[in-house]
Amino acid sequence: MLMARVVAHRGAKGMAPENTLRAIQLAAEQGAEWVELDVMLTSDEIPIILHDKKARLIGTLGIKPVLVKNTPWQQMRHLQVPPPAGSEEPPAPIATLAQAVKLIHQLGMGLNLEIKPAAKGLGVLTLERSLAVLQACPAISLVISSFDFSAIEAAKALAPNIPRALLYKKLANNWREAVRYYEVRSIHLAEESLQQQEVAAIRELGLEVYCYTVNLVGRSKELFSWGVNGVFSDFPDRFIRLPENSSKRIRAYGDAF
Ligand code: G3P
Ligand code: MG
Repeated sequence: MLMARVVAHRGAKGMAPENTLRAIQLAAEQGAEWVELDVMLTSDEIPIILHDKKARLIGTLGIKPVLVKNTPWQQMRHLQVPPPAGSEEPPAPIATLAQAVKLIHQLGMGLNLEIKPAAKGLGVLTLERSLAVLQACPAISLVISSFDFSAIEAAKALAPNIPRALLYKKLANNWREAVRYYEVRSIHLAEESLQQQEVAAIRELGLEVYCYTVNLVGRSKELFSWGVNGVFSDFPDRFIRLPENSSKRIRAYGDAF
């Protein structure tokens, strides 16, 4: 299996400020073995972990939208990511990719890095700058994915040994050609429009299927029964049972659902 039955989506996004070191840490505490994070570039080309090109972030004057592509790291580093509604977690600082990889290495987790360009046309540069960071950091298990296939093409050329994934909201008609061209190992799909026969067709080619975003155990059971390999969830704790009185991380339990 490339990743895990349950991949923590943007860290434990449902309970901590998404895509932050705190969200990664919490996902690990909840037993997640893999985490999915989004990476984009600041105006001075520093890869940071953030989902929105125009991000609502907390600064000294309160919460405000920040256009990431126009903002240097020196400014971004003073901004904080708000916690999700209903969470008692405090806001948390934005993490660089380097900080996130270091923590993931310490925690012994794997990383699905989603290349999320801060503007159109930045896919390749985002991939290149991210690879430079990954190469300078301690080695971790990786899968690189993106909706921007120019980034996947660059990953194939520059880091052929890192498994690649195509991201789709809805499986495109030409997905088989794309799989052949980009030589990907998995396809990551939105769960809403996913069809059972699509899963079967992808699995038949020997690829793995991961679905986002699945927060209900019942739905995950259905998807697993179709042959889906793993789900991205904002709430990994709903899917993973930790043994009592044990600090040892255990695997997501998949087959025991
Ligand atoms: O990588 C799976 C999922 O994160 C893709 O959608 O918008 O949550 O980054 P999004
Ligand atoms: Mg993502």
